[in-house]
Amino acid sequence: MDATEAIHKWRSIRRFKDEKIDEGALRAVLEAGRRAPSWSNVQPWHFLVIEDAGMKEKLVALSRGMAFLAKAPAVIAVCGDLTAWDKPKVRKVLLELIDAKAIPATEQIVDQFMLKDQILAVVDRGPSMVLARTFEQLGIAYGFMAVEAVNQGLGMCIVGAFGNEITGALEELYQGIKTELGLREGMHILALLPIGIPGETPGPRPRKDFNEVVSRGKIGTAF
Ligand SMILES: Cc1cc2nc3c(=O)[nH]c(=O)nc-3n(C[C@H](O)[C@H](O)[C@H](O)COP(=O)(O)O)c2cc1C
Repeated sequence: MDATEAIHKWRSIRRFKDEKIDEGALRAVLEAGRRAPSWSNVQPWHFLVIEDAGMKEKLVALSRGMAFLAKAPAVIAVCGDLTAWDKPKVRKVLLELIDAKAIPATEQIVDQFMLKDQILAVVDRGPSMVLARTFEQLGIAYGFMAVEAVNQGLGMCIVGAFGNEITGALEELYQGIKTELGLREGMHILALLPIGIPGETPGPRPRKDFNEVVSRGKIGTAF
């Protein structure tokens, strides 16, 4: 399947067959997340595969009743790692990029400019910007994972409506789940991806018209 076909075939899947996922297919989806691009290559993510029935039921409660989370053979918790933006860690990934000849910079440019610049030094903009940038990176990662899931013949849904630091809902339950799952300080669960063999074949979902969301040169000028 080529990428265009996989993108066109994407549907959120909320019904799954009661079958285990092929280990190689699941790994391919996780690998797609790992390979996603990110700001300064900071990779502020961790993909936690949850298969335990009891934990999946807790996720249902955390989402105030999205039962399909428990019916999926696996749920990938997409965790944002806010500490990935700390300057020593950003410095390290920037130097790796220089070594890989991915950016035309030097160690001196990193230390004297990139780690101090208003645009590039994300952490200097405060916690809300760190969170915003983390979300930005995770969205790319689970977007890649969604396309790979289709390619692997798997069904997936991106679930964002549950108790966590963003919604502030169900705090006690959320904190308990985080502890049980071993999340470190600075890690947030920002999306849940129930995944499995599709048990439904939904038709295409409505999208805004091409010209409503695309312009050329100036907003309102058709592409
Ligand atoms: C960031 C994000 C969060 C979402 N959260 C939920 C959710 O909490 N529950 C749910 O059932 N679907 C959720 N969805 C799925 C959307 O409802 C779905 O993508 C949209 O209706 C378009 O349908 P499609 O994905 O089948 O094209 C979410 C999608 C995204 C991208």
